[in-house]
Amino acid sequence: KKVVLAYSGGLDTSIILKWLQTEYGAEVVTFTADLGQGEEVEPARKKAELLGIKPENIFIDDLREEFVRDYVFPMFRANTVYEGQYLLGTSIARPLIAKRQIEIARQVGADAVCHGATGKGNDQVRFELGYYALEPDIKVIAPWREWSFASREALIDFAEKHQIPINKDKRGEAPFSVDANLLHSSSEGKVLEDPAVEAPEYVHQRTISPEAAPDKATVIEIEFERGDPVAIDGERLSPASLLARLNQLGHDNGIGRLDLVENRFVGMKSRGVYETPGGTILLAAHRGIESITLDGGAMHLKDSIMPRYAELIYNGFWFAPEREMLQALIDRSQEHVSGKVRMKLYKGNATVIGRESPLSLYDQDLVTFEEGQSGYDHRDAAGFIRLNALRLRIAAKRERRVS
Ligand code: ARG
Ligand code: SIN
Repeated sequence: KKVVLAYSGGLDTSIILKWLQTEYGAEVVTFTADLGQGEEVEPARKKAELLGIKPENIFIDDLREEFVRDYVFPMFRANTVYEGQYLLGTSIARPLIAKRQIEIARQVGADAVCHGATGKGNDQVRFELGYYALEPDIKVIAPWREWSFASREALIDFAEKHQIPINKDKRGEAPFSVDANLLHSSSEGKVLEDPAVEAPEYVHQRTISPEAAPDKATVIEIEFERGDPVAIDGERLSPASLLARLNQLGHDNGIGRLDLVENRFVGMKSRGVYETPGGTILLAAHRGIESITLDGGAMHLKDSIMPRYAELIYNGFWFAPEREMLQALIDRSQEHVSGKVRMKLYKGNATVIGRESPLSLYDQDLVTFEEGQSGYDHRDAAGFIRLNALRLRIAAKRERRVS
């Protein structure tokens, strides 16, 4: 039996690794992805070797460009937010990890894949829907739903028995759970579990607080081509380096913090603290360039499907046909979404202060309060309003008759 494990190199997935070897008698292949989580991935190699994984069974991939280019940017074309606020930083990374795990499974001839998500959350669903969509007969191992450790103590004892290195002072007990990548960092659980209590400052890891941000605003210019950002202040950047640059700008100006109680797919409410500094700037900037380049009807149509699209991503249906259909519609809408947006970054805010595009639909002559030349006749508006009012007047007259 051969199994490909999504391995972070941390305590929990190291325990899973050992458990797969000892309880399943499986040959373990580890896969560690650099998604821009900000931690080195090479230590995971040493750690896997230490736990008895053969060098040819250790996979470490830098997926940062693919992540931003093929997952984050397509999602941002739709101005996607879940429940009005969450920028889906964890949700959008899961399909890519699942896809790569399946590719590796094929390459090494493994018949199973394994992840370290718990049985209570969204991530198990996202990983496994991804696996099954890409490899319908794959065997999935979800240790958190299967093993019999009754407590954290029992887990730690198991780790000690198998010489898994444990951070001494913490005994593996972090004060909250973190998931991070180039788009965001997410913190949940433990000290954050009471939604009435403000998150302590130390929970935040990729933004300074708005209060601590400079009193002077930073102005930047973001250039878009067909709905995707391609340059900052005239410098063309790859997708991952562009997002990293926005993250730094967002960090320095206290932008992108979110404290949210959300509805998990499995049915419970959970409280999370998110930091999406670059993504928050990008969302506002993208709206800015769309505001002059997108037709009004097109904009309202994509806005109306956005919550559905967000829910599909949140619930793990990235590889579902209806997500792909919505994506085709969204991508089509971006054909003329090109141009430049000037943004002011100041104490937690990312504000559009200017936008321009050779493909702009904005017509200053048409909209001006001064006399324009554009052939708009004020008198047309009278009939337009009269006909739109017709059914309202009929309803009002009935109201009078019956009351
Ligand atoms: N609630 C977020 C989501 O479902 C984040 C989940 C992972 N975060 C974590 N701290 N373990 O997308
Ligand atoms: C987990 O339960 O593994 C993390 C939280 C989530 O998936 O929602």
